[in-house]
Parts: sequence; structure tokens; C-alpha cells
Amino acid sequence: MEKKRYAVCGVSSRAIGMYIGPMMRNFAHCAEFVGMLDIDPLRFKVCKDQVPEAKDVPEYLAADFEKMLKETRPDAIFVVSMDCTHVDYIVAGLEHDLDVICEKPMTTNTADSLRVLEAEAKSKGKVICTFNYRYNPIHRKLRELVLAGKVGRVTHVDLNWYIDIKHGSSYFHRWNRMRENSGSLSIHKSSHHFDLVNWWIDGIPEQVHAFGALNHYGPDGEFNPSRKDGRDCTNCPELMKCKYEARWATRNSSIFVADDHINAFDGKERKFTNYSPHMCMFDSQINIYDTFIANVKYRNGVLLNYSANFSTPYEGYRLAINGTRGRLESFEFVGAGASQLPKFHEGNQYIDYFPIFEGRERIDVAAGVGGHGGGDPLILEDIFIGEDPNRQYDILAKSVDGLRAIAIGDAVYNSIKNGGIQDLTGFIK
Ligand SMILES: NC(=O)c1ccc[n+]([C@@H]2O[C@H](COP(=O)([O-])OP(=O)(O)OC[C@H]3O[C@@H](n4cnc5c(N)ncnc54)[C@H](O)[C@@H]3O)[C@@H](O)[C@H]2O)c1
Repeated sequence: MEKKRYAVCGVSSRAIGMYIGPMMRNFAHCAEFVGMLDIDPLRFKVCKDQVPEAKDVPEYLAADFEKMLKETRPDAIFVVSMDCTHVDYIVAGLEHDLDVICEKPMTTNTADSLRVLEAEAKSKGKVICTFNYRYNPIHRKLRELVLAGKVGRVTHVDLNWYIDIKHGSSYFHRWNRMRENSGSLSIHKSSHHFDLVNWWIDGIPEQVHAFGALNHYGPDGEFNPSRKDGRDCTNCPELMKCKYEARWATRNSSIFVADDHINAFDGKERKFTNYSPHMCMFDSQINIYDTFIANVKYRNGVLLNYSANFSTPYEGYRLAINGTRGRLESFEFVGAGASQLPKFHEGNQYIDYFPIFEGRERIDVAAGVGGHGGGDPLILEDIFIGEDPNRQYDILAKSVDGLRAIAIGDAVYNSIKNGGIQDLTGFIK
């Protein structure tokens, strides 16, 4: 088998853990890692320290993208850099007729997603959006149950997503906290959730309305020890007065700094040259929302009501898919505070099916091995080996799926900011 050649744009923590390590270790029989590119040379060292197998892979700074393509001749590029930089790499890759595998969100606004679709239409290359949540066993089971007609015609979806204080605060310490970098959390994070719903119900979104607020983070956050900008957790004199951090930090700040570990999302791989992933979550520059609710109306008549909150005591979601013949219910609880919950949900998850008139059927779903309930190893197989021919339905997401999820997230942000119902019918495919 001839090996497919891959270059990676953006040597992020995600790139190293999700793609570079597995590419060199689990998929070396079919994949060759030929080049890495970033704006920060320190990222090459971090990568090579973590994946020593990559020690001879050539390094390129962002300005040398064309040089990298010329010298390393990839067949495909991975785009795993900061969100707002995705669009330029995707379009440039497509202009060279390369396949592009892009981390979510494909872009940080709808207009840029449309640029991607336009470039793809003119290219021999294809775009894969790595919506890995789809591969989680319980999410696949929900897709299969809806496809099997278990609830009849889907009419209404309820989805409430909770991101706990540890995971949630990580977005406000980092670049993600700026709309211009991440598109906001309704795109950066909720595009996963919108994609799941779009996929479960075969939905093309048409109208969106939302409300939102910045309640927990930013200068007015209730647990802000004092109103100062520019603090950094690694040397903050008020760290032990910060209720979010004091929960994980110790008073011995030297140990704290040596460990380079403020929370589970800032581990060893989080090293950068001119940027700190430990910026204060109460800074006034934050311009995204941490709490929002949205209503979405789909072309096929399905109605979605959705909420997201980024500072809850535990993490997970509650989901109901209602149809003309019944209802599917599920939930997931994980994360920092999940230990506060009863133990009944540990291990396997389940879906409850309620037929419209009476009864209940409990469908247990076994967790797989690996990230996202065993979903991450499966999406990697589809990316590197090709889609599983035995699977009966589409699962590997395309650019149009990226567009649809982002269009909802962008409309959510715009509806919160400017009010009103956002109409997507003019441009959504
Ligand atoms: N699917 C998932 O579950 C999942 C999980 C985590 C992250 N992600 C996505 O992966 C990507 C990386 O996220 P992360 O948290 O690992 O990021 P990170 O903060 O660890 O790294 C971001 C990287 O982008 C680089 N970068 C910034 N501007 C650049 C440019 N112009 N050109 C090239 N590189 C540039 C930075 O130097 C850094 O190495 C993001 O798009 C994020 O949304 C997806």
C-alpha cells in the first residue's frame, strides 16, 4: 500500500495528541508525516519531545507554507491551528488540489465557510471536518435509532449542554475567549453540538434565535478577587483568593509553577513563546458569552431548543429527541464535578425509548476504548484507512456539515448581539 503523505498546519496540543502521535504510531503502515508548520518554533520542540518518532520531520514557519508544499509534497494537510487561521490553510490547500482534514470549527464565521465550499468546488481536493463527537458510541446509536424510525418523524429536539467550572474556565484562560480567534463558544464549542443534532435529524437549519450573557467570567464574574486586568495564573498574587483556581492550586506556588499544571487542560503540552494559556478568566477583553440559549427551526420542520452553560458544577448533557411515535432520552455526565453525582451512570451509557402511548425500553450502549467513549480511534481509522465500508450511514463530516454547524453558531452570536431572528435560507446548502 502506498503511504499517503500528510503535513500538519498548527502544531497545537490537539494536533500532537490526536493526529501526530497516532499517525506515527498506529497508522505508520499507511501514513507518512512529512512536514509541520506553526507560527511558534517552540511548538516543534514540544511536538518532538512528545512524539520522538517525529524527530526528523521538517519544520516550517507559517510564512513558508508554499515552501513546505514544494519540499515535502503532501497529498493532504491537517489544519489544527487556532480556529481563525483555518480558512486560509484550507483554501490554500484546496488551491493546490490537496485533501484537507480540518479540526472543528472549520472556520470562525459563515462567510469563511462559504469561501471553503467555493474553493472545494474548484479543487480536486476534498475537505473532511473532524466532528469526532459523532463517533461516540451513544451518538452513533442515537443516529441508528432515528434512522430506524424508532420515534417516527422527528419533530423536536431538547439539548442542554453543561461545561463544568474546570473545563469551562479553560476557554476563558486561552485564545478561545476572543470572538475574533474562535468565533465565540457558540461556534468553537457548540458547533459540535449543532452538528450532532443536524446529523441525527438530517437537518438543514433555516432560522435561529438566541439570548446570551457573560455571567461567570469577565470582570463582573462573582468570584473575581479584584478588578484588575492582565493577571496570569502562573504568577498571580491573588491565586488562592480565586475560587476557580484555589480548588486545584496549592499555596506553594513554586510547586505550582514547576508542575506547569493549573488544570487538566493546561498540561505539559501547553507551552508557547509569546502567549500564555493561563490568562486571567476575569479580564475585561473577553468578548464572548458563557451562557446562551437558542431556538433553531429546520427545513424539515424539526424544532431545536438548545442551551449551553460554561460554569456548571458538573459536565454533560441532557437530550431528548421527540417524534410522532415516541421519544428518545439520554444524558452524559463527566468532568470535574461528576463525582458529585450518583454512581449509576458510570461505565456504559443508556438511551431510554418511550413509545408515544406507553412503556419504556432501556437500550444500554457499551463505551469503547479511547477518547470520547472510543469515538476518537474510530474517526482516525476513517481518516487514515478510509471510511468503514460496513457502516450503513454517513458519519465522516464534510465541508457542508461544517458550514451548517457554523452557520447556526454564528447566527446565535449575532442574534444575542443584535437581536432578532437570523434567517439562513439565503446561503445555507
Ligand atoms: N474536536 C475536538 O474535540 C477538539 C478538541 C480540542 C481542540 N480542537 C481544535 O483543535 C485546534 C487546536 O486547538 P488547541 O486547543 O489544541 O490549540 P493550542 O492552543 O494548543 O494551539 C494552537 C496552535 O496554533 C498555532 N497557531 C496560531 N496561529 C497560527 C497560524 N497563523 N499558523 C499556524 N499555526 C498557528 C499556535 O502557535 C499553536 O501551536 C482548534 O481548532 C480547536 O478548536 C478540537
